[in-house]
Amino acid sequence: MFKVPPISAERLPGLLRSMPKAELHIHIEGSLEPELIFALAQRNELTLPYASVEALRSAYAFSNLQSFLDIYYAGASVLLHEQDFYDMARAYLGRAARDNVLHAEIFFDPQTHTARGVAMDTVINGLHRACEDARTELGISATLILCFLRHLSEESAFETLEQAQPLLDKIVGVGLDSSELGHPPEKFARIFARCRELGLRLVAHAGEEGPPAYIWSALDVLKVERIDHGVQAVHDAALMQRLAQDRIALTVCPLSNQKLCVFPNLADHNLGKLLDAGLAATVNSDDPAYFGGYINENFTQVFAATGLTAKHAYQLAFNSFEASFAGNADKRVWEHKLKETFERCVEHDY
Ligand code: ADE
Ligand code: ZN
Repeated sequence: MFKVPPISAERLPGLLRSMPKAELHIHIEGSLEPELIFALAQRNELTLPYASVEALRSAYAFSNLQSFLDIYYAGASVLLHEQDFYDMARAYLGRAARDNVLHAEIFFDPQTHTARGVAMDTVINGLHRACEDARTELGISATLILCFLRHLSEESAFETLEQAQPLLDKIVGVGLDSSELGHPPEKFARIFARCRELGLRLVAHAGEEGPPAYIWSALDVLKVERIDHGVQAVHDAALMQRLAQDRIALTVCPLSNQKLCVFPNLADHNLGKLLDAGLAATVNSDDPAYFGGYINENFTQVFAATGLTAKHAYQLAFNSFEASFAGNADKRVWEHKLKETFERCVEHDY
């Protein structure tokens, strides 16, 4: 294991921004900035229930997950055509590249769109074309993860999988998101088993607001490879041990947790506790347009609020590459670049 050199507190924010990283928890609909929502509404001749970009942005005050989801699904309703999905994903990837993201695994919520009459291939082809163009134009690697909405039925999830079946070569895996409480992972046991048979990689949101029992069932019933959020695991010592032993990555989203009141303050965030217990935690942005920052903002703010160190920074970036669904050759290249960034940081002031 790489021995992380000592790095002063003043240099830490610069290092956090410049270090290469992967983003494994980003809902592409949550990257829709108010300006783009208004531009797409105008292009598609839709009227929004807000007078201006500022009025929309000022509605972004949330008390819990559901209060956010209501406004998030309303925002996504401006997406109608393949070019809309392309523009949204291309904008995110441009922004992520500026934060030194080398690889992104992007969630999308097709049921939000198909329920409004948008065809599945409109959604997936637009997102996929943006990923391809970003690879050639920016050198960033990006793949897609189709998320089932857990507040909807198992039947709706199966319908969604059927619609996506001809396009499965354009997605790497499936996930589970939306309203957690009252919708435990086991509700989706059969659809996840089917996706596993199809060779898709599996992740699920669990332990964001929900109890540790939801994390257990995501692991044991759904057989997921990563847990999205998972911060409630600290309330169950046996679960912490299981997550550490099996190197199950947690895709933690500090600013999301702050904005959705999962922790009273960012200073109370348990990211350091998770890392110090040997868990493979990562830092991600979740819905950056709604929660006040992209991945680098998540890194710099949670480090400033909780006093994490350069060693934690290295571990988080390393975990993000290790936990990705990319191939081993890519992982080794990215991890080498990470090491070089830390070595350079000691040699030069930046
Ligand atoms: N969909 C978008 N963001 C989400 C979150 N933080 N939790 C669950 N579902 C989501
Ligand atoms: Zn999420």
